[in-house]
Amino acid sequence: MHLFRVRLILALIVAVTLVSVASTYFDVLAHKHTLRVELERRIKWMDMSVQPGVTGALETGDPSALPGVVELLKTHTGVLGLAVYDGQGKLLACTGPQEVLRALPYGVIQKSIQKGDVVSAFGHSGDWQWLEEAQPLHNGNALIGTLAVVADAGYIRSEGIAVWQRSFLRIVALVFFIVVVTLAMVSWFLLRPMTQVAEKLRLLRLRADQTEQPAESATEKFTIGDWKLFRPLVREVETMAESLIAARASAATEARLRDAGEHMWTEERLAVHMSDRSGSSRIFVVSNREPYVHIRQGRETVCTVPPSGLVTAIEPVLRACDGVWVASGSGDADASMVDAFDRLRVPPDDPRYTLRRVWLSAEEESQYYDGFANEGLWPLCHIAHTRPIFRAADWECYQQVNARFAAAVVEEMEGCTNPVVFAQDYHFALLPRLVKAVRPDARVAIFWHIPWPNPEAFGICPWQDELLDGLLGADLIGFHIPLHCNNFLATVDRVLESRTDREHMTVLRNRHLSTVRPYPVSVAFEGPLPELDPDPEEEAQAEQEVAFARTELLSGFGVRAESLVLGVDRMDYTKGIVERLLAIEELLEAHPWHRERMTMVQVAAPSRTRIPSYSELGLQVEETVERINLRYQTAHWKPIVLINRQLNHEEVGRWYRAADVCLVTSLHDGMNLVAKEFVAAREDEDGVLVLSKFTGAAVELRDALIVNPYDTEGVAEAVHEGLEMNREERRRRMRRMRRQVMEHNIYRWAANVLGDLRELRLEGGEGIEIHRAAPVSEHALHVADQKRA
Ligand code: G6P
Repeated sequence: MHLFRVRLILALIVAVTLVSVASTYFDVLAHKHTLRVELERRIKWMDMSVQPGVTGALETGDPSALPGVVELLKTHTGVLGLAVYDGQGKLLACTGPQEVLRALPYGVIQKSIQKGDVVSAFGHSGDWQWLEEAQPLHNGNALIGTLAVVADAGYIRSEGIAVWQRSFLRIVALVFFIVVVTLAMVSWFLLRPMTQVAEKLRLLRLRADQTEQPAESATEKFTIGDWKLFRPLVREVETMAESLIAARASAATEARLRDAGEHMWTEERLAVHMSDRSGSSRIFVVSNREPYVHIRQGRETVCTVPPSGLVTAIEPVLRACDGVWVASGSGDADASMVDAFDRLRVPPDDPRYTLRRVWLSAEEESQYYDGFANEGLWPLCHIAHTRPIFRAADWECYQQVNARFAAAVVEEMEGCTNPVVFAQDYHFALLPRLVKAVRPDARVAIFWHIPWPNPEAFGICPWQDELLDGLLGADLIGFHIPLHCNNFLATVDRVLESRTDREHMTVLRNRHLSTVRPYPVSVAFEGPLPELDPDPEEEAQAEQEVAFARTELLSGFGVRAESLVLGVDRMDYTKGIVERLLAIEELLEAHPWHRERMTMVQVAAPSRTRIPSYSELGLQVEETVERINLRYQTAHWKPIVLINRQLNHEEVGRWYRAADVCLVTSLHDGMNLVAKEFVAAREDEDGVLVLSKFTGAAVELRDALIVNPYDTEGVAEAVHEGLEMNREERRRRMRRMRRQVMEHNIYRWAANVLGDLRELRLEGGEGIEIHRAAPVSEHALHVADQKRA
């Protein structure tokens, strides 16, 4: 760095000096030229004033008077010297410094006599510099002599020297100023950010070297401030640093777990596992929500990642085998980012797989998504006592949208051998059959992310046969828990002509075998877990930090409280938010001790707001919060804070880490990832989870306080128990839950589903009838063609 500065200073000094000297040189030349022109003008004037006197003396014909005349004229006119010659060029009289007179070039006089005109020339000798002008003198037409007038030109040189002297000071000042300013700019805009980058990288490297460091802090966001000039570089360095740290953290976790003989899935392991085994096959994922959404913000287009566990799980798989994700384009700038085939490469920073966007009209959104999927199937599958609404027009649209997505998948699979299709959720119940009809060689799986109810409940749906038939096009059908698998098998058994094998969990229908399996979805938690109990002092300090964070978070809402009960949900009637609020009211009634001590924070992200049951729920929740608050609140405290907006990952993490109790009271839930996110966030092994028995998560997280959300008193008592539980018990429970979530994380989920799909024998694959002319697919391909045209 020091050498760089010295070189920079030297280069600047040389460059600025050269430029300044050259410019001064030309200044001096110009200045001297001006002075010379001026002097020439002046000598002409001198000549004119001297000439009559000399001519007069010559005309007398007495040269002896000439010396006196020239002496007099010199004194009067201020010239440096005068010399008078006769018509042949013989000196008659002269005056002025001897050195000058001696050096006067005779040639000038001769030339003037010959030409009969004025001739001038500069001359110098010793310290003298002059301009002489020779002027022929006539009497009538006769040449009677020549007059040489000499003017001092020494000042032109001294003026030039003065200009150089003045410029020298200016050049020094300029060099100094430019060096200082450049050094300041270089160090502020170049060296400072570079030093910061280097220092940050060094710290991160050191931290990543410390393998006992918690993974989360090792992978914390790498930023080096707001250096606009270096944005692209910073982005690259950030990405590199993050992936380096993540890779080291996960390598360390792997090594530790290998050492402990444990079986653990990480993002890297999933990627390696998939690329080693995928061979020539490619994976095609289909979901309603897309993994990257482009939205317009002012004049900029920004790319956001929806907060979804699915992206975390599926992305490593797609990256590993350069797969394709087909999803509906939902961002207002999505259309401007795709190519002519509605494709783009993602992730934007490091493109590794293809996102194929399918466009839905407002009407399709309303009938397929709001209508059939969310007013029909959603309440049908969740036993939450909200009546499903089935409209024939919605069903029609649902079929068409499924066909359009199937057509897009089929199009993407063209030329691909052994394709693997992984469809997501209740939005695409018909897609497996549609894809299989065109590509019987494809291995198709669908994962149903919501519960599957009992056959009686499912039987409400007027199109249950078609939905089941669509699903049974898949080779593998996944649910979160065995109960949902059993309900599905029972429903198929009751509705369709098929052979269901409960023991092996398979369905054989039309010579096609579908395997049904539970795969509990999870979060991206890779550990590590602490190996030893913390030192009591450290623990006390950690508790203090949590208390401080809690106070700070709550004070943002003007509330003072010692303990925090947290709920995080989408605003959805299946989540039991109102029931939970009533349980808090009951807690304050049954245990008044918690008044002014405990506050419940309910985060309720707006969801599916165009659907009346959702907007009604929003109002009901707000009214209930207001009523309970009015009943109990005091000057600095209220029992409930409602945050009705979507929080980002960091924000929600802060709330998880500050909570004493996390309250998950879904009336029915496929899995509920909030419960697992809370557990994963609690590195301090503190906090109590109160969990509804009607969630998939309750099957795995047995150390939560399991409640029936309809039992208001029971939930209130569980919250009370959670708030009163001692530290040892809290740690014991949380530690077991963290191990469970870590060992059954989202990477294991993806590896299991896709691993099982790959291992399946495609029963009857050879003999299966290929309905290449399946009418719905034809229709879909036609629609796609029309759109492209
Ligand atoms: C919940 C369900 C998922 C479902 C998602 C859809 O997370 O558990 O099964 O896919 O909601 O939400 P969206 O906002 O896309 O309707």
